[in-house]
Amino acid sequence: MSHTITVIRGDGIGPEIMAATLHVLDKMNLGLQYEEADAGLAAMEKHGELLPKATLDSIAKNKVALKSPLTTPVGEGFASINVTLRKTFDLYANVRPAKSFPNTKSRFPSGVDLITVRENTEGLYIGDGQALSDDGEVATATSRITQDGAERVVRYAFELARRTGRKKVTVVHKANILKSTSGLFLRTAREVASHYPDIQCNEMIVDNTCMQLVMKPEQFDIIVTTNLFGDIISDLCAGLVGGLGLAPGANIGDNVAIFEAVHGSAPDIAGKGIANPCALLLGAGQMLDHLGMPQEAERLRNAIIGTLEAKDSLTPDLGGTGTTTSFAEAIASRL
Ligand code: NAI
Ligand code: MG
Repeated sequence: MSHTITVIRGDGIGPEIMAATLHVLDKMNLGLQYEEADAGLAAMEKHGELLPKATLDSIAKNKVALKSPLTTPVGEGFASINVTLRKTFDLYANVRPAKSFPNTKSRFPSGVDLITVRENTEGLYIGDGQALSDDGEVATATSRITQDGAERVVRYAFELARRTGRKKVTVVHKANILKSTSGLFLRTAREVASHYPDIQCNEMIVDNTCMQLVMKPEQFDIIVTTNLFGDIISDLCAGLVGGLGLAPGANIGDNVAIFEAVHGSAPDIAGKGIANPCALLLGAGQMLDHLGMPQEAERLRNAIIGTLEAKDSLTPDLGGTGTTTSFAEAIASRL
């Protein structure tokens, strides 16, 4: 079956890693069609706005997008484009796998294979309810958790466990202190868990989770948690297995899904041709899983692992002297 996906080349290193990723995907002959759309600074320059309606329309129509990092200009009046995309399409589950890869920079070159499912629309990231007192000395921010919001993301985590043969879901919270918000999330998670007797469920307080992740990450399988905790924990997990250059993420809603690298536009290395394309490639792998091509996704991941094992053309962030293009070529040659 042929799929059309919206492709956003993005800013900074975005166009470089997207070219590399599409090159590898093309080598796989999957019959994917690409519809190009602009967002971020690139869109600002061409169309005078960060997130043109044509881009939103393209994503809404195709329902699947592969997106490079975007630069949101710093300063008043610019809402984060990523947050806007998540809100617009109600992308409530942010799915971030962290898996050990054979490479020189990883603290855990084996043993880690976990997925963080981060609630992506609620919590402290709702944006409203932020206030600074007139004298500028008191700041407040509102966190909002809803039962429906908690339920759907926890259910997503358990369904993901079933679908992928995983055995355990860890609910990460701080309900001992944040009694209303984290408390509601935890109570809701317990109720959802009761419908999945085949999946083991445990609960862990977020600070202890951080220590456990660093000391004994192999105990985790799927982690489900609220927005802020998930943001932080998933970066921690990326750090366990080799850093941002290897960390993909999927933003999943009921109708639309957007696949990306976790990292940003890396302005410090943009244009140098040395960005690591793996995070976006692994995001493309998640996209193939989503499109019902799990064997092709595995084929792509195996080619990446083989290239890392052989230390063939690795980019400088992984300790090599390769380029974005030569690394991608090395991966493509192992498909
Ligand atoms: P960043 O992730 O762009 O860079 C952090 C460090 O990691 C830099 O030293 C960079 O060179 C390195 N790095 C990142 N990706 C790499 C790759 N693929 N290969 C090799 N090295 C890599 O984070 P930073 O500097 O905080 O943000 C830069 C811009 O990116 C900002 O404008 C920010 O708003 C945007 N951003 C966009 C995201 C998105 O669109 N999903 C996510 C995070 C940040
Ligand atoms: Mg983050």
